[in-house]
Amino acid sequence: MRRIALLRGDGVGPEVVGQAVGVLEAVGARIGQTFGFEEAPVGGAAIDVEGLPLPPKTLELARASDAVLMGAVGGPRWEGLDYGIRPERALLALRQELGLYANLRPARVFGPLAGASTLKREVVEGIDLLVVRELTGGIYFGQPKGVERLSDGTERGVNTEVYTTPEIERIARMAFEVARRRRHQVTSVDKANVLESSELWRRTVTRVHRDYPDVELSHLYVDNCAMQLIRAPRQFDVILTTNLFGDILSDEAAMLTGSIGMLPSASLGGRVGLYEPVHGSAPDIAGQGKANPIATILSVGMMLRYSFALDAAADAVEGAVAAVLARGLRTADIHQPGTTLVGTAEMGAAIRAALPG
Ligand code: IPM
Ligand code: MG
Repeated sequence: MRRIALLRGDGVGPEVVGQAVGVLEAVGARIGQTFGFEEAPVGGAAIDVEGLPLPPKTLELARASDAVLMGAVGGPRWEGLDYGIRPERALLALRQELGLYANLRPARVFGPLAGASTLKREVVEGIDLLVVRELTGGIYFGQPKGVERLSDGTERGVNTEVYTTPEIERIARMAFEVARRRRHQVTSVDKANVLESSELWRRTVTRVHRDYPDVELSHLYVDNCAMQLIRAPRQFDVILTTNLFGDILSDEAAMLTGSIGMLPSASLGGRVGLYEPVHGSAPDIAGQGKANPIATILSVGMMLRYSFALDAAADAVEGAVAAVLARGLRTADIHQPGTTLVGTAEMGAAIRAALPG
């Protein structure tokens, strides 16, 4: 039995995780695999009961599991809290404690949704790219950090972008390895024309690339990459970048596909992988059965692929999502005239039913 920790979190998290669990169970029944689920509170839900976004028991459960499935954290109720105990801290702590240095965020445009993007159909049709974001280093964690009061009464806020060669090497290897399973093309994104840490990034990625002569490597400055993503997004296969640049570029890439409600993610690097939708807790529609469960369902697909090496099962999940979209079923975020509006549970049920026998 494979043990999966369920961290449903806040807002729409519990609803979308519920549908993803249903899909996982249905897949398991078809391929003779059993998945055991254990739950623990995280984010605002954990703050409410334990006073902390990531209680020790939740971390223990995650550590003892074979994979973690997470919903979303955060919401207006907890926004006034001190920085150190905000719901988002749970995510950062989980990434660090589980050693999840690699964040894989695929952005793929499903054919039937090419018209749902704010960009022209001919620009986005066929997009299939993967952002490989460094997740436990850079300015998110670098020292020194903080806000200090100066003697003249003004304040000074500091965060520091720091990367060491081992940190760059391992994420670069991850990007080259996944590129080998795709179209063999890596674009490394930095700001080497201005930042010293980026100069080291570019030099190190170039050195690691010598071990992957079958993969094509190019470099882009982050501002140019942001522009190219809008101008000609199909040029990209794997985008390799730092924690902060990856945070920004992955949201941009998400919007190319029409809705952030479609995008899954995997965080890898330690023994236990963490899988979650890229979208947030969407408190405005929480509990209404309206949320799009596809990002979380596709995250379960990534779990099957990356944690359990069940590639055929992962393909089956992706195929079922594509089939349901082709039939015209749409949640509100991707609804267009001429398609059928469904809720969270209906979408989940349709995807389960579309799994190959
Ligand atoms: C993301 C989110 C997080 C991040 C926040 C919620 C801490 O934006 O996963 O992209 O910045 O990494
Ligand atoms: Mg983000």
